[in-house]
Amino acid sequence: MEDTSILAGATGKERDAVLLDMAVRPVPRYTSYPTAPHFTDHVNEATYARWLREIPADTPLSLYIHVPYCAAICSYCGCNTKAVRRLEPLNAYSKALSAEIALIASQLRTRQVSRIHWGGGTPSILGPQNLISVYQELESHFELEALKEHAIELDPRVVTPLLADTLEGMDVTRVNFGVQEFSPEVQEAIGRVQPFGTVQEAVRLLRQRGISSIGFDLMYGLPQQSLNDIERTLSLALLLNPDRIAVFGYAHVPWMKKNQKLIREDELPGIDERFGQAETARRLLIAAGYEPIGIDHFALPDDELAIKARNGSLRRNFQGYTVDDSPALIGLGASAIGKLPAGYVQNMPATTEYVRTVRNGSFACARGIELSNDDRRRAAIIEKLMCNFSADLRSIDAHSFEEQFLDECMKNGLIRREGTLIEVLDKGRPYVRLVASAFDRYYQKGLVRYSTAV
Ligand SMILES: C[S@@+](CC[C@H](N)C(=O)[O-])C[C@H]1O[C@@H](n2cnc3c(N)ncnc32)[C@H](O)[C@@H]1O
Ligand code: SF4
Repeated sequence: MEDTSILAGATGKERDAVLLDMAVRPVPRYTSYPTAPHFTDHVNEATYARWLREIPADTPLSLYIHVPYCAAICSYCGCNTKAVRRLEPLNAYSKALSAEIALIASQLRTRQVSRIHWGGGTPSILGPQNLISVYQELESHFELEALKEHAIELDPRVVTPLLADTLEGMDVTRVNFGVQEFSPEVQEAIGRVQPFGTVQEAVRLLRQRGISSIGFDLMYGLPQQSLNDIERTLSLALLLNPDRIAVFGYAHVPWMKKNQKLIREDELPGIDERFGQAETARRLLIAAGYEPIGIDHFALPDDELAIKARNGSLRRNFQGYTVDDSPALIGLGASAIGKLPAGYVQNMPATTEYVRTVRNGSFACARGIELSNDDRRRAAIIEKLMCNFSADLRSIDAHSFEEQFLDECMKNGLIRREGTLIEVLDKGRPYVRLVASAFDRYYQKGLVRYSTAV
């Protein structure tokens, strides 16, 4: 799941009318540039095959495996997933993943894989047998000996000793749990009942098997959520000592996600409360020894994410902040997005069409975008802003970005500029997506509906 902004740095007084207006402006999350709504069907199956063949031999690949299924849909969920109760679709999907792996490998000259990430949805819903058989398919086509990371997103409610054994057998090194919030009232309001003991036991089962790198996703801006809830949730989460914690602002987009119509809008915190919740989470996590990473992540100082953030080499991709610097990210599964040296590609979103297409021996690529030199220069600036809150603008022409908007940001104390350098100040960090949008050639207000900036 992509991320939303955390409200670092802003104080009560600063929330004047202009800033509030900015805070509620719809803006992309910049997990890619150009962003996915600008992908087109000019990139098709043939383009994808050619781009795969162009990847140089021995290039280390990063693989993202998308499993868009869950046992039930949580009311707040903004992920690309659907509920499934029967085993047949899961078995068919697993076979399709294996077919897609073989198909992609047939075009590639490289066999090196440095990172694997399973996301969703809830990837473990495939079941131990299917997980193992997809992993074996990867092993049969690629060299996995030099894997730096094998990560999976997990729902703590479904972690059993058998699943933990399976993940240990697949040499999984990192697990990210959807924790969200521990208040029973908020859990009821978001359709996700998950007591602390469930998360504690899931963490124990994995650590017992040597899977020691653990991350938690928490959320603010949820219905009925109060500052006390945030404080209590954080103190409980910290008892389990995760290496990484993401604190996502709830993105309410019911026009896109019908399940969110179950969320009562009159129970949602207002923009001021969202600021306060994010500030509180940030303060407590820093006090507990976590380092803030980008707009919404925190990591213990010896975690790779914190190390990369300190030395300025943090990256951002569809999974959010990452240490992954592989030159090619291959997306597997329905709706999965890949980033190849030549450009972005995205598979068809409908699972039945995806399964049918790859099992017929065709690529499931439905759209994408070829990167121009201008795209690459802007992408680098936007990524630096999102990761480091600063960037050097010397690579792009001064008249090719929204100077006027940047002046507005400067007047409001959100950014500072010196020569070709731009720095997002502490007060401006909650608005960094908006600052980044000044360099987005495709961004046109109102053309695509995004969630709010804050
Ligand atoms: C794929 S899910 C995590 C794995 C697993 N399915 C689970 O829920 O435990 C990814 C994460 O996205 C975040 N998320 C989901 N819907 C969101 C929304 N509407 N706004 C912000 N974050 C959201 C949640 O924190 C969630 O844990
Ligand atoms: S939050 Fe996780 S478990 Fe809930 S519907 Fe979304 S992907 Fe599925």
